[in-house]
Amino acid sequence: MDSLDQVIADARAAFAAATQPAALENEKARFLGKTGSVTELLKGLGKLAPDERRAQGVRINAAKEAIEALLTERRRQLADAELDARLAQEAIDVTLPGRKRSAGGIHPVMRTWLRVEEIFASIGFDVADGPEIETDWHNFTALNNPENHPARSMQDTFYVDARDGEGKPLLLRTHTSPMQVRYARMHKPPIKVIAPGRTYRVDSDATHSPMFHQIEGLWIDENVSFADLKGVYTDFLHRFFETEDLQVRFRPSFFPFTEPSAEIDMMFTAGPNKGKWLEISGSGQVHPNVVRNFGLDPERYIGFAFGSGLERLTMLRYGVDDLRLFFDGDLRFLQQFN
Ligand code: DAH
Repeated sequence: MDSLDQVIADARAAFAAATQPAALENEKARFLGKTGSVTELLKGLGKLAPDERRAQGVRINAAKEAIEALLTERRRQLADAELDARLAQEAIDVTLPGRKRSAGGIHPVMRTWLRVEEIFASIGFDVADGPEIETDWHNFTALNNPENHPARSMQDTFYVDARDGEGKPLLLRTHTSPMQVRYARMHKPPIKVIAPGRTYRVDSDATHSPMFHQIEGLWIDENVSFADLKGVYTDFLHRFFETEDLQVRFRPSFFPFTEPSAEIDMMFTAGPNKGKWLEISGSGQVHPNVVRNFGLDPERYIGFAFGSGLERLTMLRYGVDDLRLFFDGDLRFLQQFN
């Protein structure tokens, strides 16, 4: 074999043996680079006689072109192989089931919240919303809470590192009752409102959470009586639990902002929870001092208020026995309500 044919054969073999683009480029340098074998042959032309030089030059250049063609072809093969490998690796199996974006659900406590709103709205109650960071005055003083009331202590209430206009520390409201004061001071009687929302206390066990939800109710007019409270609340419970099979009783109690005060108890007379009295809400006739803090004359205006726990209502409605389940965020629990 002619030595040029040998060089071409060597290049073909070397290029074929290179399986990576980088290796191929190294092989290219061995033949076509500055000190490559073809380049060396071209350099040797100078030593030949003119006639021979031309003939030999044509042959070397033909060989060089042949090698370049081999190189181009091998580059293309390697690039194709690389693309094929990548496509194989990134292959999408279009027969696999899609990854769906699941629809969110309504939290059971929020479900209760909406349901209670709907029931009270249907009998003419307005729905109001208010701040979770409260002043001492709205949360305690205006509601007739004495200065030394335990709820005012650091052990029972979350205080905020900021003060109101009077220099008193702000706090996370301990109940929704301050909304009675806020709403009544902004509206003229008749006042008929519910105020659902988040409330906070330093408390945490199976039946207490530091953050929980209440719904406040307030009805003030010239002659709203305890009988109205009894009627409204009993009707609410029948509708909320979707049953007439329950009894309601008002048990004397004490709250600074109501006089008289009552604890509302209920008892299912059918179903799995039947026969047990369950505490469901605080309530009472709004105290004259509080009516005065509404900016109203207690000789003329009278009415009732109540405050119920939304978690409590939810637990009874669905038979949930641990309040913490509402706050764990465990989908196995939450999905049962949607
Ligand atoms: N605020 C009371 C509490 O959180 C509940 C309450 C009792 C609200 C009597 C009322 C009421 O409006 O009249 O324990």
